[in-house]
Amino acid sequence: MTTVPRVFEPACDYPAELEAWWLAEAARRMEVPDAGLALERLEPIVSELSDSFTTDRNAGFGAYSRSPFAWLAYSLFYFPQTFMRLRWIAQEAGLRIAPAADRPRDTPLRVLDLGAGTGAAAAAWLTAWSRPPDLAVDLTAVDASEGALALLKDLIHDNRALFGPVDLTLHCADLRSETRRLPGEWDVVLISYALNEAFREATDHELRSWWRLLADRLAPGGVLLVCEPLVTSGIPVMVKLREWALEPGTDLHVLAPCLHQYACPMADGTTGWCHDVRHWRVSNAVQGLNRRLFRSVHDLKYSFLALTRQPVPGEDDAGYARLVAPVSTMNGRWSFVGCASDGCLRTFEVLHRGFDRQGRDAVESLERGDVVRFKSPVLLGDGLTYRAGL
Ligand SMILES: C[S@@+](CC[C@H](N)C(=O)[O-])C[C@H]1O[C@@H](n2cnc3c(N)ncnc32)[C@H](O)[C@@H]1O
Repeated sequence: MTTVPRVFEPACDYPAELEAWWLAEAARRMEVPDAGLALERLEPIVSELSDSFTTDRNAGFGAYSRSPFAWLAYSLFYFPQTFMRLRWIAQEAGLRIAPAADRPRDTPLRVLDLGAGTGAAAAAWLTAWSRPPDLAVDLTAVDASEGALALLKDLIHDNRALFGPVDLTLHCADLRSETRRLPGEWDVVLISYALNEAFREATDHELRSWWRLLADRLAPGGVLLVCEPLVTSGIPVMVKLREWALEPGTDLHVLAPCLHQYACPMADGTTGWCHDVRHWRVSNAVQGLNRRLFRSVHDLKYSFLALTRQPVPGEDDAGYARLVAPVSTMNGRWSFVGCASDGCLRTFEVLHRGFDRQGRDAVESLERGDVVRFKSPVLLGDGLTYRAGL
């Protein structure tokens, strides 16, 4: 038995052409002869950015660094990580729903990236979602930083082969007010690591009003992807956004991470907060910049929410579950904690017996965030654990 029991198997490395583009752009803008030298000079700026993200995430990007090259440092170190996070999310959401798949070819898909920075979320979406080659995309990027948007513009323009035809509109503005001002509806809305900054001083009431306004702007069949850093204290914003999204009258449905529309069984945090942890092949530039920084870059940890206007068919299957804790192994059995499609949190136990080496490696490579179908779960005598197969 050598099957990998993942239900979704997104596979992609950070694209080499993006890394090469950012390296060349850094050397060009910094007026240094080669990318190696650019990386060397960007290292202290990455270190400064990294400190401000870790110790004072709420400071807002304007306060992260005084260097004119801060966005280049961001784009060589953080952009690949955002890209990979959004790539996983977009790919999973895209497997469950294809936004506007049946739209007429002469009607472009309207994509909005809020707090876009240099465009990592949009870049991930554009490469993850396979659209018919003749379907154009109107991408609107909103950010408070003019410098970031200028880089985003060049990125999209210079990488047409990767992104396909994209009609780009930039708004250097506050995303909170711009959401109301922008006309029309959106087929795809992306928000990555921006809410915690934009709403850092906002009350729940303000965030909720803005969230409802945004929800109203999602086109029928549209998809809204939000990704945020994990918080170490307090209720993560994602728990609130999910609750508000499912309030009567909002007309949103959860595509992921949940496999159900019931109340979140982890909402009080007593069993930890729901988040994914994904391993990725760390890009060369990130490895180089991290040589003396020693940040933990191999595992991407994030919380996210993928919502849609379209009702999502549920399964109500006690064994169909998203892993919400790392796989542990002890005494010839694996233990998994899964949030199942019937809305319950369960511990599943699977015996090693019957798995060859390859099969065991496959099971042990499962990550927090993988969706697994446990076969024939049976409640054990402890009343808590389900014995199941894979
Ligand atoms: C950590 S960066 C994330 C950038 C990008 N979305 C990504 O994931 O790589 C946060 C971004 O939000 C933008 N931002 C923060 N508050 C904002 C606001 N009120 N209006 C518009 N942009 C804002 C910052 O300028 C910055 O580009």
